[in-house]
Amino acid sequence: MSESLSSLRPSAAAGVVGTTLREHVLNGMHAAKGATGEFTSLLNHISLAIRIINSRVRAAGLADLLGYTGETNVQGESVQKLDAFTNDVLMNVLERSGHCGVIASEENDEALLADHHGKYVVLFDPLDGSSNIDTNVGIGTIFAVLRRQEPKLSRPSLADALRPGREIVAAGYVLYGPSTIFVMSTGQGAHGFTLDPSIGEFFLSNPDIKVPERGSCYSINEGNFSRWSPSIQNWARWVKGIHPVGESPDDRAPFTTPYGARYVGSLVADAHRTLMKGGIFAYPADSKSKTGKLRLLYEANPMAFLFEQAGGAATDGKDRILDLMPTELHQRVPLVLGSKDDVAAYRQFVVGERK
Ligand code: AMP
Ligand code: AHG
Ligand code: MN
Ligand code: MN
Repeated sequence: MSESLSSLRPSAAAGVVGTTLREHVLNGMHAAKGATGEFTSLLNHISLAIRIINSRVRAAGLADLLGYTGETNVQGESVQKLDAFTNDVLMNVLERSGHCGVIASEENDEALLADHHGKYVVLFDPLDGSSNIDTNVGIGTIFAVLRRQEPKLSRPSLADALRPGREIVAAGYVLYGPSTIFVMSTGQGAHGFTLDPSIGEFFLSNPDIKVPERGSCYSINEGNFSRWSPSIQNWARWVKGIHPVGESPDDRAPFTTPYGARYVGSLVADAHRTLMKGGIFAYPADSKSKTGKLRLLYEANPMAFLFEQAGGAATDGKDRILDLMPTELHQRVPLVLGSKDDVAAYRQFVVGERK
């Protein structure tokens, strides 16, 4: 029987077992005056769904790669595409929890409105980066939790979901990468938990994540350059150290360009690297995606909440993401995430203060 990874870590070798996600959430409940335990139960249900998805994401990938015939049921389910499967898992587990008055998914046209007075709204992207599944590149799951305004007095409605991101009470993402990391916040900082697959437990691996004030890496799909507005093109040249006529390197202080370039094409992977190392990620609007590509409610808002909890910034290029008032469930928004200074520099180009 292979030893569980958590027993191999130096701290555990000394007989100290790391903090599990369950314990972390329980501590949060004890710190929350008057908590009934519903929120805790909801987070535990989300953790269950994530662990089920993790096991299938890996199995599906394996079957895909090695053409395992032994896993025909996986093959069968792969007919049921992975983003549909992950959607079903999250919908099923969240509905069963009984805590959700409203459940909305990138994969469902309409929000599910419960016939009970569930206190919470959960909005999610069940499988982010799905175009990368068959290339075995990091993919993920993203979610946000809101509390309904008057749960006992009102029936669940779409209006409960169309709230600004500043009202989020919990948000997180899972990156199914070389390891499975779950980054989550309930408003008291952003914390990373790594899954020990041998025992199916998440252990606190990155407590209180802080985004560096400024980074040295930028992340954007340069293939869209010709479609960007002139101000975004100016920023893209600046970040690559291409000097406009008459500008001296001093004019760029305190920034040291050119920045390095990294782009995975899965928001969870590009966002996680930016959260951990600093720098900037941007998916601006362009002549093809006129309001941007990423969705406000279950991609931009949860990521913005986490970045701000980690001392970073998140805008649509100009305004704070968490202050945007949603009008539609699947509306798209330009998204800029990263170190405060780098997001501020980007904004200077958008508003014309830098050329
Ligand atoms: P509840 O009564 O369990 O629905 O919790 C009420 C509110 O207290 C939640 O909406 C959270 O804002 C906060 N809270 C409750 N449990 C926790 C927890 N485990 N971690 C962080 N905040 C919590
Ligand atoms: P999803 O797979 O949930 O539709 O999200 C894909 C998104 C996001 O993960 C990523 O940042 C972006 O698509 C990449 O888009 P491009 O391929 O146009 O760069
Ligand atoms: Mn996505
Ligand atoms: Mn998706």
